[in-house]
Amino acid sequence: MLEIKDISKTYDNGHKAIKNISFSIADGEFLSIIGPSGAGKSTVLRSINQLITDDSGQILFNDQDIRQANKQQLRKIRAQIGMVFQNYNLVGRLSAIENVLHGALGRKSTISGALGWYTLSEKQSAAALLDLVGLGDFIYTRANELSGGQMQRVGIARALMQEPKIILTDEPIASLDPQSTTVVMDYLKKIAVEMNITVIANLHQVEIAKKYSDHIVGINNGQVVFNGQPNELTPAQIVNVYGNDVGAIE
Ligand SMILES: Nc1ncnc2c1ncn2[C@@H]1O[C@H](COP(=O)(O)OP(=O)(O)O)[C@@H](O)[C@H]1O
Ligand SMILES: [Mg+2]
Repeated sequence: MLEIKDISKTYDNGHKAIKNISFSIADGEFLSIIGPSGAGKSTVLRSINQLITDDSGQILFNDQDIRQANKQQLRKIRAQIGMVFQNYNLVGRLSAIENVLHGALGRKSTISGALGWYTLSEKQSAAALLDLVGLGDFIYTRANELSGGQMQRVGIARALMQEPKIILTDEPIASLDPQSTTVVMDYLKKIAVEMNITVIANLHQVEIAKKYSDHIVGINNGQVVFNGQPNELTPAQIVNVYGNDVGAIE
């Protein structure tokens, strides 16, 4: 259970990116954060992972305030949060399985991590995870020889390698064609449903958010303007969230 309570962030240049944002997320829930470009979606996601520090508010992960955590506690919390990136963040010259194994680095000693020493069981897990995302035939393919959709599935397998409780993903499909979008979203959904991993996805497109989410938070101009289930997101609510950004609605 993750509870975001009243968080605000003003960037160094004085721009107030988010204002008193509050919402909570149940375990295993697929939550989408929607809103137009510049609304503050990425800022919210970065706050949850404490990649940026908010000015005020609380982020409670199983009742522990992430913002009050010391370095060691924060490392433990972060180990439970997997990230999936818009641009995949893979090492192109390495194979799919080597990229997935990187997801285990947080649990290893610096030396064995640096030397690429992985145990047999880690290698078996990485191969099984690639199989889970439909890439069983591409285990030894170099990442830069894969399609965008395949690269994103390697990114998902790498996040799972960390055995996370939560996966955060900022516009995971923004660089993908419609067909790959469906495949990647289907796997993210499967993870939430079958592995009971909470998925928090920033999405620009409302139709995709409605199709896959259990819970949607709409942000406009740094504030929550919708918080509910997909079927509660009426056309009027959508206009509230997107204003004149019609591109996202179509
Ligand atoms: N590092 C930063 N410094 C100053 N302003 C920023 C920074 N990052 C984002 N912003 C601004 O904060 C607002 C929210 O940005 P962001 O969270 O990236 O929105 P979204 O992800 O919804 O597009 C935007 O106006 C953006 O220009
Ligand atoms: Mg963003």
